[in-house]
Amino acid sequence: MYVDYKGPELESRKRIGWKVRYWDQFDEISDWSKMSTIEMGLINPDDWKASWIHADTENFKSNNHGNPAVYLRKSFNIENVPDSARLYLTAKGLVDFRINGQKVSSDAFIPGWTNYNQRIDVYTYEVTSLLKPGENILAASIADGWYAGTISGQHYGKYPELLAQLEFLTNEGKIERTIVTDKSWSYTLNGPITMADIYHGEDYDARKEIINWDTSSASGKDQFSPVAEKALDDDVQLLPKPFRSVRAIESLPSKSVHRTKDGSLIFDIGQNIAGWIHINLPGKSGQQIQIRMAEMLEKDGTLYRDSYRTARSMATYIPKRDGLVDYNQTFTFFGFRYVEISGYDQSKEPNLDWVTGNVLHTDFPRTGTFTSSNNKLNQLYQNIVWGQKGNFLDIPTDCPQRDERWGWTGDAQVFTPTALFNFDSHAFLVSYLDTMRSEMGKDGSVPSVVPKAHLDIFGNSAGWGDAAFIIPWELYLRTGDLEVLKNFYSMMVRHFDYYDRKAKGGLVDEPKSFADWLQPKRYGSDTVGWDERSGETSTYLIASSYYGLGAMILEKSAMALGKQDDAARFSIAFTKTSSAIQNTFFDSNGKFIAGTETQTAYLLPLAFELLDSEFSKKVAARLSERIRQDGNQLNTGFLGTSVLISTLEKYDLLDQAIAILFSNEYPSWFYSIDQDATTIWERWNSYSKESGFGDASMNSFNHYAYGAVGKFLFERLAGITPTERDPGYKQVLIKPVLNDLVPLHSAGATLETRYGTVENSWKRMHNGWEVTSTIPPNSTGKIIISALPSDISLLSGDLDFTKNSEQSEAIAGPGTFRFFVKQKGG
Ligand code: BGC
Repeated sequence: MYVDYKGPELESRKRIGWKVRYWDQFDEISDWSKMSTIEMGLINPDDWKASWIHADTENFKSNNHGNPAVYLRKSFNIENVPDSARLYLTAKGLVDFRINGQKVSSDAFIPGWTNYNQRIDVYTYEVTSLLKPGENILAASIADGWYAGTISGQHYGKYPELLAQLEFLTNEGKIERTIVTDKSWSYTLNGPITMADIYHGEDYDARKEIINWDTSSASGKDQFSPVAEKALDDDVQLLPKPFRSVRAIESLPSKSVHRTKDGSLIFDIGQNIAGWIHINLPGKSGQQIQIRMAEMLEKDGTLYRDSYRTARSMATYIPKRDGLVDYNQTFTFFGFRYVEISGYDQSKEPNLDWVTGNVLHTDFPRTGTFTSSNNKLNQLYQNIVWGQKGNFLDIPTDCPQRDERWGWTGDAQVFTPTALFNFDSHAFLVSYLDTMRSEMGKDGSVPSVVPKAHLDIFGNSAGWGDAAFIIPWELYLRTGDLEVLKNFYSMMVRHFDYYDRKAKGGLVDEPKSFADWLQPKRYGSDTVGWDERSGETSTYLIASSYYGLGAMILEKSAMALGKQDDAARFSIAFTKTSSAIQNTFFDSNGKFIAGTETQTAYLLPLAFELLDSEFSKKVAARLSERIRQDGNQLNTGFLGTSVLISTLEKYDLLDQAIAILFSNEYPSWFYSIDQDATTIWERWNSYSKESGFGDASMNSFNHYAYGAVGKFLFERLAGITPTERDPGYKQVLIKPVLNDLVPLHSAGATLETRYGTVENSWKRMHNGWEVTSTIPPNSTGKIIISALPSDISLLSGDLDFTKNSEQSEAIAGPGTFRFFVKQKGG
């Protein structure tokens, strides 16, 4: 539920309080809730008195293989601790900030990855309790991170910079004193983190620790020299971080350890994650401990590291004395399950406590859960969730381990609906869209990678750039937040116009597209698109289909925003494109005639509802035939897979949907589970017990794109769907597939919506199904069951099923309902 703010104008530093009460269905008024508050950060450029500071570039010989962290400090005196103190903090790079030796927060990877040439996020911390009368020390370490590291080809800058402003306030809100980053700070490059880079990892030399460098009793003060200073950039917005930060969310203990032939130890944390490796183990003075990791093991029990490609992915630690080493990285993260340790004190017996995996991701609340009676399906769902955890680390990435970890728009687009079922990723995705908008071409093209950094070579690609209209629409549909549409409407239109200008007769081509990326098996025709990994589905069909989808999304968005004229324009465009698609790409029998008859060539026009309903039946029949010829197996890449199961089910091909979803044969989801996958893989055969590893040139074991099937699990197996009529689950469509073809005894899901928890689950009984639905307050449930009303008996709650064609329908108010659906002929 969104309530527009209508209070006085928001100003920097202002605190706003609010409380809530409600009226129930009997008009009873509740008590007021406790007061909650929100405090504004710094929202005007002239709030800033601080300057960017950095190491003297004479000393900082930046290279793009990884640089040392920069340690910065400043001392100041106060007589008394102020009533309150706020720290406004950001960096070009990554920052770890301390006051008097204490970290200001557990947030990691501050300030996240935006288009740093347009917007840099600022974090606000309440730090009063960290101050003391007398001398105080502000201390920060900064590293290249996304800003100046190899991941962005040093596109934004060559060295990290710090910006901080500490304000002391009286109880009345008056600013008493401001301490800022400026020339009075000093720095050293000679601290313990001798190298930090997102791809290459971290090197830590404890012998270089500067005792108490972050407190007033620092011993090595004289190692610090004056910093260089830079003014704020006029055209870069400094804005409060608009969503939750990355944190170490959970710790996974090692489950087993074994020794390799060369004496190193390999720990298994049992789960492929994106995160840090925490070691707590015996080291020898001056002897480097090497921490290497991998997602998979080779047959001989050693690490399989090919999937990292050029990323060094490694951490090292040199102890300054014999004894226990307690170390966790700061400015890098790894994608891994296995951890190899060498260089430790070999005289000690290994212990599982020596290595822990710290899982990193954006700290958003969990929204949904799915469960069923089938263990493999449950494992698939868990793998989807882990895929999201591993790849929602400030921006949505393709994978968290190799020398990419970029914000590929196609991957993000296909996964958005599932992402919103799992976690409240609304604000996270809005921030991503904001970056996308800032990086669009003047012509409305959208880069394939956002933030695009140095990756200009990848231009607009059909199915990738279209994230620009798909993500805002999905956000609106699934959260009900009309602001998203308002905010991004002009971006959506600009992207639509990009196609529109190129279109001829309602059709458009985007020949340099990634197309149906990684279609697993070839039919033998020529490659389309970017390169041989782009599959065989015509780019002309793909681009035209997304163009048609864009017209449809824009028509609905314009209607939602009350822009009737625009809606009429998009409606005309939609009609033109859809009939051109129907007439150009298919013969009158529904056979695809404009290139290779791939599954995806049939799937996209069907999934996007671009065909007349009668004609679509013919096309669906051809799709069915194609799949039958393919041995009732999938043969789809990134685009086709995202709509495969739901489209089959939608067009009455449930038997094939089920055959594919529950298949154990390559290529299928369960195939990877039979190979012990704990995440979604980039390729259906990234690894097999029989033939080993897939093509190492691109072989990620944590790639969420195929996890897009999660949407089907929630919407159709469990039966919880948002409706366009009342988005954001103001109206919930409860429509589970209750059919003998579904090989499950039970399935169900829960979902936190803006109105409360929606739940739906069903159990197979011997002659039917028992369904339990919960609809939260202030929303209604539209329950649709494919059975006649006479075959539905109510077990609890008040529902009135009426017949609607071959189905029954009931509208449910808030509450929990239980009913029994008799099986046909049962
Ligand atoms: C990435 C993908 C991405 C693709 C573009 C790959 O290297 O890992 O996930 O979408 O390139 O085709």
